[in-house]
Amino acid sequence: MKKIEVNLSDRHYPIYVGRGLLERLDLLQPHIVGTTAVIISNETVAPLFAKTVAESIARFVKVEQCILPDGEVYKDLRTVKSIFDQMLAIPCDRKTTVIALGGGVVGDISGFAAACYQRGIPYIHVPTTLLAQVDSSIGGKTGVNHPLGKNMIGAIYQPKCVVADVDTLNSLPKRELVAGLAEVIKYGLIRDPDFFDWLEKNIESLASRDPDCLEYAIERSCLNKARVVELDERETGIRAILNFGHTFGHAIENNLGYADWLHGEAVAAGMVIATEFSRRLEMLSADDSARVKRIVQRCGLPEFPPAWMTEQDFMRAMAVDKKVDAGKIRFVVLEDIGKATVIDQYPQAVLQQTLAAFLPS
Ligand SMILES: NC(=O)c1ccc[n+]([C@@H]2O[C@H](COP(=O)([O-])OP(=O)(O)OC[C@H]3O[C@@H](n4cnc5c(N)ncnc54)[C@H](O)[C@@H]3O)[C@@H](O)[C@H]2O)c1
Ligand SMILES: [Zn+2]
Repeated sequence: MKKIEVNLSDRHYPIYVGRGLLERLDLLQPHIVGTTAVIISNETVAPLFAKTVAESIARFVKVEQCILPDGEVYKDLRTVKSIFDQMLAIPCDRKTTVIALGGGVVGDISGFAAACYQRGIPYIHVPTTLLAQVDSSIGGKTGVNHPLGKNMIGAIYQPKCVVADVDTLNSLPKRELVAGLAEVIKYGLIRDPDFFDWLEKNIESLASRDPDCLEYAIERSCLNKARVVELDERETGIRAILNFGHTFGHAIENNLGYADWLHGEAVAAGMVIATEFSRRLEMLSADDSARVKRIVQRCGLPEFPPAWMTEQDFMRAMAVDKKVDAGKIRFVVLEDIGKATVIDQYPQAVLQQTLAAFLPS
């Protein structure tokens, strides 16, 4: 088992990465202060793991469960209210610990519920998707969607610890696993060139769930995300590099109505477009740009947006994306493999030519 510390100005917490950790939740004992814990999970994940988690913590705490319907459509305030209703009925007090067991959806909702319940109670992430293990469980962003926008209601609220059990990924649908690899590749591209080299050698092993490779990739991804979040918890600066590929990717997701494509798939295509943009801005070499495209292809992730999308579809969606500052769309681009930077000054024609290269003429 590996332990990664996230050191923030006023708090720090560990991320544990390893195999068989759900049976070892005695690890959690120091992080659970009260006498009750509520496992928040969903109808898909709870039957797989909730019993194991409950049994390993029942030795030192009373365990309750709150099981949500599965799906991004339930990531809303109604579901949060249903959690509050159940927690008040139990009743949970200010020392109750929430255990978020599931993917990013369960994690985001549970973290937000924990941030609000009685003005904030402790919570622990037990992420069970690759995306949640390498991304959403780290950094404290919690929240839900509003009919007028994704993740529009939320809070920055850090967990007491994160327990990423690599074995839970065995039951994850392959498509979800591969989509999570897009975020793993992102860490190599934005700040860790050695990791990108390693990914180029091991990407097929990751896609076929080699446990040692997965453990290493998750640990290294967590380390990268933790180091960025430590520098900029509230995303006033450097944390924006974590959005590499996301401005184009969000535009794809937005045009698809957040259906059909998984987030990581849109991010993969978005990273290829952002890389090509970097090359056309003469910041990145053609060889490095080709490396990015190749690794995305080897994963079987998309490198092109849906064929019906137009330049206007991109521009409209990107203009409302939250990374717009004073009317200019900001982009994360690559200066090198392993070195990202944020730009808001660029010739509009280069952006148009980049998009045109990915859209049918
Ligand atoms: N807070 C953040 O910083 C942050 C960052 C990135 C994404 N997110 C959010 O994360 C969400 C996406 O998360 P996700 O990709 O994990 O999707 P998800 O939570 O919807 O999980 C994907 C599917 O896999 C199922 N599942 C989860 N673990 C499983 C397992 N071990 N075995 C079998 N099935 C399993 C889930 O029930 C679901 O059906 C989005 O809402 C996004 O906004 C948040
Ligand atoms: Zn993402």
